[in-house]
Amino acid sequence: MLVPLSENRSISTSEDVVAVRQAVRQRAVDLGFNLVDQTKIVTAASELARNALIYGGGGITRFEALHEGARRGLRLTFEDKGPGIADVAQAMRDGFTSGSGLGLGLGGARRLSNEFDIVSAPGQGTTVRIARWK
Ligand SMILES: Nc1ncnc2c1ncn2[C@@H]1O[C@H](COP(=O)(O)OP(=O)(O)O)[C@@H](O)[C@H]1O
Ligand SMILES: [Mg+2]
Repeated sequence: MLVPLSENRSISTSEDVVAVRQAVRQRAVDLGFNLVDQTKIVTAASELARNALIYGGGGITRFEALHEGARRGLRLTFEDKGPGIADVAQAMRDGFTSGSGLGLGLGGARRLSNEFDIVSAPGQGTTVRIARWK
């Protein structure tokens, strides 16, 4: 199967989070990622999709296939229009949760990715962008 250049999927239920996981796995396979790299990006995506659902009240995942010379990668953007995060540094810290999680989702996603960006502010929603290269 060919990887579309770019595609959006909505995240509004926990089934959508499962579907995002499956779609990320499929795209990573299509791009020739090995099993370890597939699992890294799937795990990161799962955490970020769940955050968008739980804290952001739902959002979207954007998939982009990256081609840079011979390099192949996958960029994922998780965007919601929820309440946003007042203190992003605090939210990134391992063990911090405002809910009932383990507080490892954002930090874990950053460690599992080659590129990680977060833009969030109160009332502005949250956008997290990650990329993993083969
Ligand atoms: N999309 C989001 N919108 C609003 N707040 C968020 C979002 N994602 C993360 N957060 C905040 O960052 C905190 C840390 O997130 P995370 O590291 O995934 O841990 P956990 O999900 O276990 O709480 C969350 O508890 C929440 O306060
Ligand atoms: Mg989380």
